[in-house]
Amino acid sequence: MLRVDDLSAYYGDSQILHGISLAVPDGGRVAVVGRNGAGKTTLFKSIMNAGPRVAGHVSWQGAELGAMPSFKRVRQGLVLVPEDRRIFPHVTVLENIAMACYGVTRGQAALDPVQVVERFPMLVPIRDRLGGQLSGGQQQMVAVARAIAARPKLMMLDEPTEGLAPVIVEQLARDVVAACNESGAGLLLSEQNLWFARQCTDRLYIIDTGHIVFEGDWATLDANADVKHRYLAV
Ligand SMILES: Nc1ncnc2c1ncn2[C@@H]1O[C@H](COP(=O)(O)OP(=O)(O)O)[C@@H](O)[C@H]1O
Ligand SMILES: [Mg+2]
Repeated sequence: MLRVDDLSAYYGDSQILHGISLAVPDGGRVAVVGRNGAGKTTLFKSIMNAGPRVAGHVSWQGAELGAMPSFKRVRQGLVLVPEDRRIFPHVTVLENIAMACYGVTRGQAALDPVQVVERFPMLVPIRDRLGGQLSGGQQQMVAVARAIAARPKLMMLDEPTEGLAPVIVEQLARDVVAACNESGAGLLLSEQNLWFARQCTDRLYIIDTGHIVFEGDWATLDANADVKHRYLAV
């Protein structure tokens, strides 16, 4: 279980997150949705201790993470796919996925990159292409595949659909759901695309200017038209 309790985050003197609390049960799938600039990326970086200055509590599997550095969090099974994807441009798709062996969850062996590629139909024909020659959608697929190869207990995807064509968004939803089902990994997803978030998760939090303003399942959101309108402009 991931628990975030009363978490605040700062860049210099600006406070970006204000007392955020949320939880993801083992194997659970949870979305954080909110507009541009709401604080989604800052939240994910705070959970990984990868950037902002943080006050409050992040605990994972019952232990407070405190000042634990990012690379150790990864070894504990918390794997972040950042919004800029960070694909290595000068090595192939297969080699990008093989990099996951450096971040594999402790006590596990990384998955065989060839087998991982086979789970992502879009990657099969391009497995020998260089990272720098991929479209945005292909890069996102590689980033998710690389995360799965590291055997995460919780995969954190930061706005994976940003800039992707609708047909790719649909394929990505199928692949993310299948990968989570098959691996048993939990999912913490940040999104502005409500359709995609709904395909991939059971519960959501809405974040607005660094505050959580709603939490519940998707049916509860649907019953709150005013919340949707006020915070998500739909
Ligand atoms: N490195 C940074 N330094 C200063 N302010 C930042 C930095 N990164 C993000 N911010 C600010 O924090 C706020 C939240 O940004 P972000 O977490 O990226 O939102 P989101 O991911 O929801 O679009 C924004 O006002 C943004 O300008
Ligand atoms: Mg962001």
